[in-house]
Amino acid sequence: GGTSKSNGQGQLEIGGCNAIDLTTQYGTPLYVYDEKLIRDNIRSFFNAFKKHNVKFNIAYASKALCNMAICQVIKEEGLSIDVVSAGELYTALKSGFPASRIHFHGNNKTPEEIKMALQAKVGCYVVDNFNEIDLLNRLAKKHNQIVSILFRVSPGIKAHTHQYIQTGQQESKFGFDMISGQVLEAIKRLDKRDNLHFLGFHCHLGSQIFDKKAYLVALQKFFDLINTTKQQFGLDTQVINLGGGFGIRYTDEDNPLIVEEYIDSIVGTVKQECNDRHMDTLPEIWIEPGRSIVGEAGTTLYTIGSEKEIPGIKKYVAVDGGMTDNLRPALYQSKYNAFIANRVDDEPVEVVSIAGKCCESGDMLIHDIKLPNAKNGEILAIPCTGAYGYAMANNYNRITRPAMVFVKDGNSVLVVKRETLDQLIQNDLVLT
Ligand code: LLP
Repeated sequence: GGTSKSNGQGQLEIGGCNAIDLTTQYGTPLYVYDEKLIRDNIRSFFNAFKKHNVKFNIAYASKALCNMAICQVIKEEGLSIDVVSAGELYTALKSGFPASRIHFHGNNKTPEEIKMALQAKVGCYVVDNFNEIDLLNRLAKKHNQIVSILFRVSPGIKAHTHQYIQTGQQESKFGFDMISGQVLEAIKRLDKRDNLHFLGFHCHLGSQIFDKKAYLVALQKFFDLINTTKQQFGLDTQVINLGGGFGIRYTDEDNPLIVEEYIDSIVGTVKQECNDRHMDTLPEIWIEPGRSIVGEAGTTLYTIGSEKEIPGIKKYVAVDGGMTDNLRPALYQSKYNAFIANRVDDEPVEVVSIAGKCCESGDMLIHDIKLPNAKNGEILAIPCTGAYGYAMANNYNRITRPAMVFVKDGNSVLVVKRETLDQLIQNDLVLT
């Protein structure tokens, strides 16, 4: 991650395509995805599980990047998909994604969303709270369906990551609180909810997690829960879902484990726990990676525009995008690397800060990065923008959303058209 590949002429190459040529053809800002890398990332999760001979399921967390093309790739690679809204569900269905492989998440699924999911017959619901137990049971009954559910559990674990993307801690808005006994209460309520079929438990500890500790602690708590569920309610747990959160390398400061290491230690712990507790069937292990599938595969290309130098203090270089196409630096102080795509092999000579074009001081993409002397009209590439970039893109300042291309073996395909000015006003109504 965060590294660049240059062609013979020192220009950035992605998926066998010349980045400068891509910008000529499609304009900037441009999201470019290396399709092979997405598929390789998926396969490393598959391979990591396969060698262990356990039952597993990998659901891509579509919140990281959701459009029809990525759904197609996910489908082709045989993954399930996790959706959290009518919009994500709609996108997956329209792309031809099999409903049985869709998992429906969310802490406030609306009745309309649930009806839509029931009509499509999605494969699994991750039930987040008491209201949803009743709502889902009632609507499922109306649709004459018995639906498979996992209970989302908040295990009370603080993973070491930015506080906005921590989700497993006790005060989290998500899931049934384990510490205060809400989980057992939820299981108890299954008693008269005949349209819900209990599969197991889910937790998500946070995002961009670098070590395996949090997952292993969660597993221990899960196994205690499995035990209690069996003893108190006579109920078997078929599935444990550990969510996503596997970290990626944005810059050299990041040191995530490799996928195989995460999976090895998760599977190892599951086997060990089952053994210690004399359980003869292993539960299925489900995970939901988002960032680790698409993050490093995405690069954003910008055109360099104006600059401002405050002598002896700071130099700004502005690009034709910013917090509208990548909100992460402004929202989480996330760090990124960058290259001048025209001259990737040139020596860095000056420290600059990369500014976006929004009317907002916080609209900075990178603070203090050493680059070759950047010239107006050259292309700036920011790698590792594949997750939660386009997904969180917005129209602040009425800036239109960039186009997106997938590249593979020297070919590029447009997968999201550049938004137009007419699209910006298409829902506006004039006063009469
Ligand atoms: N499963 C659940 C239930 C989740 O809530 C999430 C992410 C995932 C899976 C996927 O996590 P991942 O593998 O991508 O870390 N906008 C933030 C990230 C928010 C993540 C929310 N939930 C960011 O840009 O860093």
